[in-house]
Amino acid sequence: MFYSLPDTYSKAFINIAQIGILINLNSGEYTRIMKIAAVSDIHSPKYLREFVESLKIRKYHDIALVLLAGDIIDKGAVSFMRPVINAIKKTFKSRIIGIYGNEEYDSVKNDIKREFNDVIWLDDETYFYETSDIKVAIVGSRGVLDRPTWWQQRNIPNIREIYLARIKKIESLLRAVPKNYKKILLTHYSPTYATLVGEDKRVWPMLGSRRLEKIILNTRPKIVIHGHAHRSVKVEAWLRGVRIINVAFPARKEVTVIDFSEGLEKYLI
Ligand SMILES: [Fe+2]
Repeated sequence: MFYSLPDTYSKAFINIAQIGILINLNSGEYTRIMKIAAVSDIHSPKYLREFVESLKIRKYHDIALVLLAGDIIDKGAVSFMRPVINAIKKTFKSRIIGIYGNEEYDSVKNDIKREFNDVIWLDDETYFYETSDIKVAIVGSRGVLDRPTWWQQRNIPNIREIYLARIKKIESLLRAVPKNYKKILLTHYSPTYATLVGEDKRVWPMLGSRRLEKIILNTRPKIVIHGHAHRSVKVEAWLRGVRIINVAFPARKEVTVIDFSEGLEKYLI
């Protein structure tokens, strides 16, 4: 069921079956359980085989949402998106939400959106997911870099302005989420340097943005999910109570499962 909320992009999806309930036997209280699967940087066809194999190793239960954090394909090769989406649909049977990475070139974004309309693509937009138990708002964006790559500097003359405008947009989207929704920020580029440990320090400004940290601290999403950092050895970090999670497949070697349960954070995270 879909209905509108007073925001730029607002849909709500009702799926009670994918939300469980955990009863705390000591207190008699119960907790809503919500699990999210997230992955990025499959760079299909580059890591396609490893990705499909990785799905067979682990058993996935009760995944409410699958989040794709960009660079699912390599070099704008749209046709290589299909085997990834098919494998995900076969494994998870959950709603899929995606953002574009730097390899989903601007020139193919419309083709991707049209051809893979079984995925909800967010391009500086918010998706509202709602069940009878839980309300989640996912703010999705390619994200920003503190220093544009050499290619970007040469080919996109206004790239610095684009990034500045995008930071403001992300902030306004996060601020616009109603208080009764838990906020997730989903970006491709890293929104901090904390999860870039393992990458060459000299290129950190070209892999992510410390400028987004301030926005995160001010707007307090519950979790921030990103990709792009293939060589990261510190795939999770905390930013004053905000959990930052790098889900890049080359760093993780599997889909990352995130427990996003109401009230369980203090026990499981
Ligand atoms: Fe990337």
